Amino acid sequence: MNIVICNNYGELSKKAAHIIKEQINDKQNSVIGLATGSTPLGTYSELIDLYKKGKINFSDTITFNLDEYYRIKKDHPQSYDYFMNENLFNHINIDKKNTHIANGDADNPNDECESYNKMLDSIGGIDLQVLGIGSNGHIGFNEPAQELSARTHLVKLTSKTIEDNSRFFNNVSDVPTQALTMGMADILKAKKIIILISGVNKAKIAAEMFKNRITTQVPASMLHMHPNTTVLIDKDAASMLP
Ligand code: GLP
Repeated sequence: MNIVICNNYGELSKKAAHIIKEQINDKQNSVIGLATGSTPLGTYSELIDLYKKGKINFSDTITFNLDEYYRIKKDHPQSYDYFMNENLFNHINIDKKNTHIANGDADNPNDECESYNKMLDSIGGIDLQVLGIGSNGHIGFNEPAQELSARTHLVKLTSKTIEDNSRFFNNVSDVPTQALTMGMADILKAKKIIILISGVNKAKIAAEMFKNRITTQVPASMLHMHPNTTVLIDKDAASMLP
């Protein structure tokens, strides 16, 4: 893994946006894998800024989001569908037909996962995948477990993730207990990956991730096996690295 230590969150966000811009400028119809959570917000706002300055054109860009809560309606303010519209898609010239987010309100989640996998396969996989990391080491919603799934699947969220994400909901009991997430193979097949790690609350898991071992108990440690991953980490999150 190529590790870039950034002075602060602002620098990390600018660097991430720059990598995405270069990817899209090199290949207009790039397939970009997108993440949610607080960490990519700065990157998305930089991308909006670059778009407004005419430095990036999303008209042919294709996106696939990593995950979505299950069960949640698209218009719920905490759905990842709503998040992407509010924080990126509504502010750039992307064709919404080219954006993909698993339907967290599908009656049959397994069918929904299968059709998401088919779409991913038909598009030929992801050129650049953007990732965040959960404080327990999850990527997408691939939670620490004895076994991880290869493809998009329905997953039960851990109590740690439910507690972490409860900050966005009125009550911890309002947080959905399941999610649809792309699997580890879907992520690791991406040609390039950038993972954004920011803040002192990620320092412990960042240190775990960089240990010289790969374990399904820290799903992000599997990125050691990927040939083209860049870790953008700010000083706070890097404070416990050797
Ligand atoms: C959620 C998302 C992940 C994200 C993680 C970290 O659980 N499913 O894709 O990486 O949160 O979020 P944050 O950046 O808010 O710490």
